[in-house]
Amino acid sequence: MDELSSLELLSLECKFKEHLNFAQAIDRVSPINIQRLTPELIVPAARLLASSMRDNPLHRRVFGGNETQLARLLTTTFARLLRRQFESGLVLGAFDGTTLVGVAAMVPPGQCQLPFQEKLGMLAILAREGLLWRLPNIYRWLRIWAHHDPTTDHWHLGPAAVARERQGEGIGTALMRAICNELDQRQVVGYLETDKQMNVSLYRRGGFEVIAERPILGVTNWFMLRQPRPQCVQDLARFTVRG
Ligand SMILES: CC(C)(COP(=O)(O)OP(=O)(O)OC[C@H]1O[C@@H](n2cnc3c(N)ncnc32)[C@H](O)[C@@H]1OP(=O)(O)O)[C@@H](O)C(=O)NCCC(=O)NCCS
Repeated sequence: MDELSSLELLSLECKFKEHLNFAQAIDRVSPINIQRLTPELIVPAARLLASSMRDNPLHRRVFGGNETQLARLLTTTFARLLRRQFESGLVLGAFDGTTLVGVAAMVPPGQCQLPFQEKLGMLAILAREGLLWRLPNIYRWLRIWAHHDPTTDHWHLGPAAVARERQGEGIGTALMRAICNELDQRQVVGYLETDKQMNVSLYRRGGFEVIAERPILGVTNWFMLRQPRPQCVQDLARFTVRG
């Protein structure tokens, strides 16, 4: 075997081990089912996302620290966003029996930025909450996110969250794995932003890599990209996990 092919083999083995670690992590949550969300669950999903994300550092910095108001604002905003993602992208739910315990959404290339009509809808939600004066913060946040958005085709992940009382059980890993499987099956690039360092290791385990790190209004944000796994790595992992 020449040097090049042994390097290729080493890289394949590393990728496979990452895949296996990921597979073993979700074994801890075997009763959890990951399914596409059905429309009647959009509002419960928005509530879950809002409750779990109301204390994310960037949300607090942009909208202020009133958690009750923030949960209400985020519920309405996420419900609107999920309806749109439901039509144009993929919204997955994690279920323990019939209970929704986690949500993750992503949209295809060209859908990352909200159309004008949707932006107006978001303005109306802000106005109802008396938060229009927060617009400069929102503008700064979204401008920096848009600036980092890859110019090449990608599926954009977010929002994603697990119910507060169920975090740390491996449900987020199961959702991430389902998302990564979808990306691999389509052989497309995935992209996301996060404002919590804790989340970076979770996404890294799914194959995302940090491509930029930047403060927004004093809160560090990580921008992460994931190349699809080659079909041969997926086949190898599937074969060995079963064996
Ligand atoms: C981030 C989140 C989806 C992860 O789901 P989870 O079910 O808690 O995660 P798992 O149990 O599968 O995996 C735990 C990993 O997630 C990270 N993590 C992030 N937030 C966590 C939390 N509140 N509790 C436990 N683990 C958390 C841990 O660092 C851990 O990584 P490690 O195994 O490499 O140490 C979930 O914690 C959450 O909803 N957090 C609040 C909302 C949020 O930040 N959403 C993501 C926005 S980008």
